[in-house]
Amino acid sequence: MTIWPNDVTHLDTVITGGQVMLPGGDLVTTDVGIVGHQIAAIGDLKNVPAKHTIDATGLHVLPGFIDSQVHLREPGLDHKEDLHTGTKGAVLGGVTTVFEMPNTKPATLTGQDLEDKFTRAKNRAFTNVAFFIGAAAENVESLGHLENHPGCSGVKLFMGSSTGGLLVDRDDTIEAVLRNGRRRVAIHAEDEPRLIERKHIAEAAGSAHGHPEWRDVETALRATQRILALADKTKRPVHVLHITTADEMALLAKNKHLATVEVLPQHLTLASPECYDRLGSYAQMNPPIREQRHQGALWQAVNAGVVDAMGSDHAPHTKEEKAKPYPQSPSGLTGVQTMVPLMLNHVNAGRLSLQRLVDLLCAAPQRVHGLKNKGRLVVGYDADITLVDMKATHTFTHAEMATKSGWTPFDGMTVTGFPVATMVRGQLMMRDGEVIGTPEGERCQFW
Ligand code: DOR
Repeated sequence: MTIWPNDVTHLDTVITGGQVMLPGGDLVTTDVGIVGHQIAAIGDLKNVPAKHTIDATGLHVLPGFIDSQVHLREPGLDHKEDLHTGTKGAVLGGVTTVFEMPNTKPATLTGQDLEDKFTRAKNRAFTNVAFFIGAAAENVESLGHLENHPGCSGVKLFMGSSTGGLLVDRDDTIEAVLRNGRRRVAIHAEDEPRLIERKHIAEAAGSAHGHPEWRDVETALRATQRILALADKTKRPVHVLHITTADEMALLAKNKHLATVEVLPQHLTLASPECYDRLGSYAQMNPPIREQRHQGALWQAVNAGVVDAMGSDHAPHTKEEKAKPYPQSPSGLTGVQTMVPLMLNHVNAGRLSLQRLVDLLCAAPQRVHGLKNKGRLVVGYDADITLVDMKATHTFTHAEMATKSGWTPFDGMTVTGFPVATMVRGQLMMRDGEVIGTPEGERCQFW
């Protein structure tokens, strides 16, 4: 491949001989040159002097994976996780950027709260970082301003209560949120009145098998119907997170002009009742893992293009917390370190193409949230790059997880396809399972 631009005279790093995924999805055996924190050239670079060479022969060179939904628990819940440990897991799992959720303690509701998180991330987070601002009755009027805070990935609204106290369950308040601002609002769509009405099901269940019964299909569908109606009424686009049901997918397919759609690897990989038999509360999350029928519909939606994006919803809780009897056990699964290998395994199994995966996990955050300069291997973009060995096999263990919580629902599972190097803004952060870089915790930029 001819080099572009053709006037590049020196490089800091050159990644040679890998199968490079170009923005159109073509895989081309070529080189990628880096100067400072940017991609400086793509093409045959063997005649350009470089300070460092990374031999990528036999590897895929992909845009750095972006996890647009993680809960890293800092401040206030850092016995479960923090920005250092959570992002260490991220780079070990091939993730170069995270968007972090606002249900910390305190919840992220002001510009000061956002700045506090950026300060904490600086020189402690191994990835690039962005933070969501939480929607609440008390900050509705300021959201149009807050969503433009530098590095803010947008507004997150919980329609149903989950971990933490963030909740906007009334249509009039949700409408007020949608009327304040312009960016896509990320939505947790579960219907709070139905959750309250049916809580007795969880209380009588005696085990996490009751979780998908309590938080049933209708609970998810009602909320998704409500948010689509409000998005239409206010002409404000929304991004519905972690969709779990065939019923919602059918509806969302008809409303692509109103909502972009996210799915999670957990919902594409685990199914009820098997996951609850095997994992108990370690499979408990909101919205819940459902039966095979729904999982099949999610895969169809992924491949039909109804789904726009993917995130891990990394939501760590300690083993002691998870061991509490259901429903006192908290909801949430770890996932930032396992998401990319799990999905590469699905690619190898023929369930989706590598191009589709890169679209969902790299390009999507630009489309959905307006992320700048990331998500594609393009000259001038940030040098966030993940090297992947599509043939490597790996068995997940609890012990290898960097998360403070120390567990993964995928312990013992063997996958084929594994990230072997993670570069963040030109710095090699992980190589062959070892974190070797210095955390910078750079703030993302948005349009
Ligand atoms: O299962 C979940 N856990 N779903 C959420 O919406 C929140 C998350 C958490 O923060 O624990």
